[in-house]
Amino acid sequence: MSRTRARAHRRTLELPDAAATTRLGERLAARLPKDTTGWMILLQGELGSGKSTVARAMLHALGHLGPAPSPTYTLVEPYEIRGRTIYHVDLYRISNEAELPFLGWTDLREGLVLVEWPERVPSLAAEADLHIHLTYAGAGREAEMTALRLRAAGLLAAV
Ligand SMILES: Nc1ncnc2c1ncn2[C@@H]1O[C@H](COP(=O)(O)OP(=O)(O)O)[C@@H](O)[C@H]1O
Ligand SMILES: [Mg+2]
Repeated sequence: MSRTRARAHRRTLELPDAAATTRLGERLAARLPKDTTGWMILLQGELGSGKSTVARAMLHALGHLGPAPSPTYTLVEPYEIRGRTIYHVDLYRISNEAELPFLGWTDLREGLVLVEWPERVPSLAAEADLHIHLTYAGAGREAEMTALRLRAAGLLAAV
């Protein structure tokens, strides 16, 4: 029983090329509920592992037109897409939880938050819905996805 549950909440996916990473983002987006108020997706992985590629694919799949710049310098890139509020956040320059208020974190939590470098604030795992860990695998990448909340379990079935 516990083994079945663990399997249902975790999924590993080979991503042989960038197009596969983009497809992952698109499929996740397609499975999101209409109302993503308070949703949080953690995108962990070293530089160049594909975090922004996933986030960008999700934004475009949800209806964003035009570029989706990396929030590396702005820390937060806000989007209003078809009645949905999305924040693409990069915590690389954040040292700990105490600095989150400087990003207006309470307001951000009212949208769908896509978080790069979530390991800067380990406590986020207790609040988030989905954790995606991207690692280098030869010329490609591997994504290990964990549903942290029951409502995100359906997302894993999509990919
Ligand atoms: N599965 C993959 N295999 C090979 N290259 C990939 C894959 N996924 C993404 N890439 C490429 O790797 C780079 C990842 O960049 P980016 O998404 O900005 O990474 P991060 O945000 O993690 O620093 C991009 O050049 C992208 O085209
Ligand atoms: Mg990035």
